[in-house]
Amino acid sequence: MVRAFAPGKCILFGEHAVVYGHPAVAVAIDSGVEVELTESNSWTIEGLPFLSERHPHISHILNDVFDYDGEPLKIAIKSDLFSAAGLGSSAALSNAMGAAVLQLTNPKAELDSIELARIGHAAEAKAQSGRASPTDTATSALGGCVVVSGEIIAGTKHVFDAAMETPEGRRKWSICKVDLPEDLDAWLVLGFTGVGSPTGDMVAGVAKLLKKDSSKHQDMDAIARITNAGLTALGAGNLEAVGMAMNACHERLQNIEVSSPELDALVEAVRPHALGAKLTGAGGGGCMVALTQHPQRVAEAIEVAGGTPLISRVGVDGVRILQ
Ligand code: PMV
Repeated sequence: MVRAFAPGKCILFGEHAVVYGHPAVAVAIDSGVEVELTESNSWTIEGLPFLSERHPHISHILNDVFDYDGEPLKIAIKSDLFSAAGLGSSAALSNAMGAAVLQLTNPKAELDSIELARIGHAAEAKAQSGRASPTDTATSALGGCVVVSGEIIAGTKHVFDAAMETPEGRRKWSICKVDLPEDLDAWLVLGFTGVGSPTGDMVAGVAKLLKKDSSKHQDMDAIARITNAGLTALGAGNLEAVGMAMNACHERLQNIEVSSPELDALVEAVRPHALGAKLTGAGGGGCMVALTQHPQRVAEAIEVAGGTPLISRVGVDGVRILQ
């Protein structure tokens, strides 16, 4: 039996702007997905027969990546992430599955987090008709604080490049890391609105808005500036400045019409107890995130306002084998 865990992610800055080549900053969170594989006499997943077409990420990893021809497997999955909420649950599943199959088929091999990020990214693309940014898989595999951008951002450590043929043409990304101060005295509290976040529709909506109203490009440029300022503040451990950048980012995301009344209500509810708060991910629904030194108070404020809270440290370790 082998077990692997991969964390979910939270975008702190740069969602939507990253689609236009600007940087996005994401951190790995405590919650994630655990995959357990046990050799068995039949293929099952969560106690039911395993049908590959129902589980495209898993079957891609087993068949296309590892060409697995061993004993049938009993696959068990545990997740404490909200799904379809912008927390990268499918990326965490892909990375945990990749790590678990590697451990099962080659127990002596060292986990190569860059290789697992690439495998996870390919699995996401396969499952999403060729469209997938590497943000979720890279953050879940590498852990810590990850910057994804069209070009290498000054002050970051370059880790690897990713490229993919998409239906819209070839896309390329640089994946970099920023070391966070070890004594960062703050937590993230995510607040789930209970409404799913339709990433594809939200990205398409922004493209339409930018075409109709060219002044909205100013908001995109502002998000890019805020992202750079927030990243510098994060690396320096300047929590007040990170919070201010988060608040400014939320305003710009409102301007490009990706927030919602539910997200705004949760953001407003936490402001008195938080250094900063904003929606995270594609918007429309999904989650908001607050940076705070009072995580319990923020979690309570989210519950009172009708959301579901999730407390996390900022930038935990990436994919790992569990003993
Ligand atoms: O899928 P989510 O909610 O993590 O959001 C993805 C971030 C976007 O910038 C909106 C889309 C993208 O591909 O980067």
